[in-house]
Amino acid sequence: MSFSREPFIDIIAGTRPNFVKIAPIIHALEKYGPSKSIGNYRLVSTGQHYDKALCGCFFEQLDIPQPDENLMAGSGTQAEQTASIMTAYEELLFNEKPTASIVVGDVNSTLACTLAARKMHVPVAHVEAGIRSGDWGMPEEINRVVTDSISNYFFVTTKQAAKNLNKSGANSDHIHFVGNTMIDTLRTNESRFSPPVEWDEFNLNAKNYLVVTLHRPSNVDDFYELSKLLETICSACAGYKVIFPVHPRTLRQLAEIEALPANLVLINPQPYLQFNYLVKHALAVLTDSGGITEEATAMSVPCLTLRDTTERPETVELGTNALVGKCEEKLTQSLKKIFKGKWKQGQLPEKWDGKSSERIVALLHDIL
Ligand code: UD1
Repeated sequence: MSFSREPFIDIIAGTRPNFVKIAPIIHALEKYGPSKSIGNYRLVSTGQHYDKALCGCFFEQLDIPQPDENLMAGSGTQAEQTASIMTAYEELLFNEKPTASIVVGDVNSTLACTLAARKMHVPVAHVEAGIRSGDWGMPEEINRVVTDSISNYFFVTTKQAAKNLNKSGANSDHIHFVGNTMIDTLRTNESRFSPPVEWDEFNLNAKNYLVVTLHRPSNVDDFYELSKLLETICSACAGYKVIFPVHPRTLRQLAEIEALPANLVLINPQPYLQFNYLVKHALAVLTDSGGITEEATAMSVPCLTLRDTTERPETVELGTNALVGKCEEKLTQSLKKIFKGKWKQGQLPEKWDGKSSERIVALLHDIL
C-alpha cells in the first residue's frame, strides 16, 4: 500500500461485491500516483466478509493490496453488524481523518461507514449511487437510500440512477455519470477466467449446464421456500446440470433440506475468476444477486432474476436479464426460450466500457 500521513482518502470495502468494485479504483489511483488533492489512499476492510472464499481469494485474484486497516466487524444481526462497523470506523477517524471516504455499493459496511464519516465531518463519495428497487423489504434498499441521503458526491452507473438522485433532491452538480466499475473488473480479468476444479469433476462443457446463485434472506431464510424454489428450478432444467455455488447463509438452510433435486450440483463459493468462467460458459444464470445480472449482461449470457424487482432496470431493458421472481410459469417459459436459443441478445448500457474507474479518479482529483 501507499499510505502516508497526509493527505489521504479512505477506500471502504466490506463484502465480496465491494472487493470487485474497488479493485479497479485502486488500480486507477495507483496509476495516477499521489497528488496534492488526494494524496495517497488508506484501504479499510470492514471485516463484514472474512472467510477466504468470500474475501481473501478476491484480494489475491484481483490484485488488491492488503488492507491498511481491518475493522474486524464479522457477522451479526443487521443492527449489530452496522453498529460494530460504525463504532470501529469512528474510532479510526478519531485517530486520523481522511480528506474524503469512498464507499461503494449498498451493503451494511457502506451505510455504517457513511454515517460515521459524515458525523465526523468527512465528505463521502458514493460509488454506484442512486440505484433503487423500491423494495423496502431488502436491507440493501434501506442502505442505498440512507447512504445517498447524506453522501456528498455521487458516482452513478446509469442515467436512471442520476434521475433517481435528482428526484430525491441531491445536488445535481455533485452527480457524475461514470459507468460501472464492476464491468471494469470484468474487462480487465476476462482473459484470465479459468475453470474451477469442479469443471472436470462434473463433466461440464460450454452450454451444458446452468448456474444458480441464491443468498437473499427472502429466498433462503425459510428452508421450505428455498426447497420449493430449487425444486421448481431443477425440474424446469431437467436434462441439464444446475451448478450452485453456495453462499454460507444459504448453506445453513440447505443442511435442513432432506432431499435435493438430482440434477442440482452444490459447490463451494467460487473465487472471482472461476465463478465468471462458469457464468461465461453457462447456458443461463439464475440469480437473486444484482451484480451478477450486470456481469451476465456484459457477457451476453441469458439471465433470470429470482426476485420481483431490480435496482438495475437497464439489465432488463437493454441487457440479457428478465425478472421471474418465484413464478413457476414465468421461469418455465423463459427457460424454454433459452433452451431453444431464442433469448434476447442484449446490449451494453452506456459507459459500461471498462473505463469507469479512470473517470472516477479523474473527477476525484478535480473535486477534492
Ligand atoms: C451481504 C450484503 C449483500 C451482498 C452479499 C454478497 C448486506 C445487508 N448484505 O449479504 O448485499 O450481496 O453480502 O455476498 O450488507 N458469513 C460467513 N463468512 C463470511 C461472511 C458471512 O460465513 O465471510 C455468513 C455469516 O454467518 C452471516 C451470513 O453469512 O450470518 C451472511 O453474511 P452477511 O455479510 O451478514 O450478509 P450476506 O448475506 O453475505
